[in-house]
Amino acid sequence: MKIVYASRTGNVESFVEKLGVEDTLKIETGNETVNEPYVLVTFTDGYGEVPEEVQDFLDNNAEHLVAVAASGDTSYGEAYCLSADEIADTYGVPILAKFEFDGEPEDVEKFLNELNRL
Ligand SMILES: Cc1cc2nc3c(=O)[nH]c(=O)nc-3n(C[C@H](O)[C@H](O)[C@H](O)COP(=O)(O)O)c2cc1C
Repeated sequence: MKIVYASRTGNVESFVEKLGVEDTLKIETGNETVNEPYVLVTFTDGYGEVPEEVQDFLDNNAEHLVAVAASGDTSYGEAYCLSADEIADTYGVPILAKFEFDGEPEDVEKFLNELNRL
C-alpha cells in the first residue's frame, strides 16, 4: 500500500522511514496527484486542524484514500491528533493510528499490523 505523508518539521517523515515501506510520497504543495489506493499520514496543525497542503491534496485525491493516521502532541489536550478525526469524518475512512511526534516502536508496530489488515 502506498503511504502519502506530510511533514513540516520531520516527525512524520521519521515515522514513515521507520515503517520500512518503499512506496511513499511526500506532500509538498498539495498539487500532487495519486491514482492508486493510499494511506495518508499527516501532522496536526492549528488547534486540531488539517494542514492546508494536506487539505489541498485531499481536494484533488480523496477518491483513492483508504485510511488516515495522524501525528500530534498530547499537550494540545482535546485537540490531540484531531486532524485524523476530521479527515476520517469527512471522507468516511478509518483512523489507522494516532501517535505522538515521530512515534514509539509500539506505534510503528501497531501501524504496520493495521496496514496489513487493510
Ligand atoms: C503551530 C502548531 C500547531 C499544532 N497543533 C496541534 C494540535 O492541535 N494537535 C496536536 O495533536 N498536535 C499539534 N501540533 C503538534 C504537531 O502536530 C506534532 O509536533 C507533529 O509531530 C509534527 O509533525 P512534523 O514534524 O512531521 O511536522 C502542532 C504543532 C505546531 C507547530
